[in-house]
Amino acid sequence: MQPDWDERYRQGDTPWDKGRASPALIAWLEDNQGRMTGCVLVPGCGTGHDVRAIASAEPTSFPVGIDISKTAIEQCRHNKVQENERYQEENLFSLPKTFLTTCDWLWEHTCFCAIDPKERPAYVSAVAASLKPEGFLLGIFYLNPQRNDTRAASGPPHGTTIQELESLFLTDGVFSFMETIMPRDCYPEREGREQLLLLRRTKKLV
Ligand SMILES: C[S@@+](CC[C@H](N)C(=O)[O-])C[C@H]1O[C@@H](n2cnc3c(N)ncnc32)[C@H](O)[C@@H]1O
Repeated sequence: MQPDWDERYRQGDTPWDKGRASPALIAWLEDNQGRMTGCVLVPGCGTGHDVRAIASAEPTSFPVGIDISKTAIEQCRHNKVQENERYQEENLFSLPKTFLTTCDWLWEHTCFCAIDPKERPAYVSAVAASLKPEGFLLGIFYLNPQRNDTRAASGPPHGTTIQELESLFLTDGVFSFMETIMPRDCYPEREGREQLLLLRRTKKLV
């Protein structure tokens, strides 16, 4: 069953929020200065830590965080510090036209693992549709969130495998893999459980 995301934010019941940006993102931005430019979409941005990190590391970029939760977006706006960070309450699965084929980059972090696995093909279509042809998707994918948990994984975060990611993103030739990167840094407890991938949208869209 999917959570009522807005209720979780209203209650402050957000254990995924580590109070800081993804360490893997920060390390990648340090190692790739000047690369993430233009419009950068951050779906499921939560309270905006990653959006702020991108805006600060790449002042000429235009990162825009979207989230289905009104409360999360209000917190993002309250926490805003950079001129170039922007936020909008949106459902990734019904993006307005302004987000279609307009993004140069997309940063994925714990949105993919939060949605129902049945929706993953729709996730791939939505992120592909947001990117310009030859736009980049950089994502940190949570491979085995239930590693130490013997209970059945009834709710998010939902894990994945490299095989599933290949099958989802490479089917129909909409994306090609550019790099499989071992993240240089991560949150405590996530060592060896995350995979950083750089994909590129091909010209073809289904
Ligand atoms: C596990 S949280 C991660 C938030 C943030 N990336 C972080 O690491 O703090 C998943 C986020 O995805 C958002 N979300 C879930 N479904 C969504 C959808 N269809 N469109 C946009 N955001 C969505 C939730 O509201 C929530 O903020």
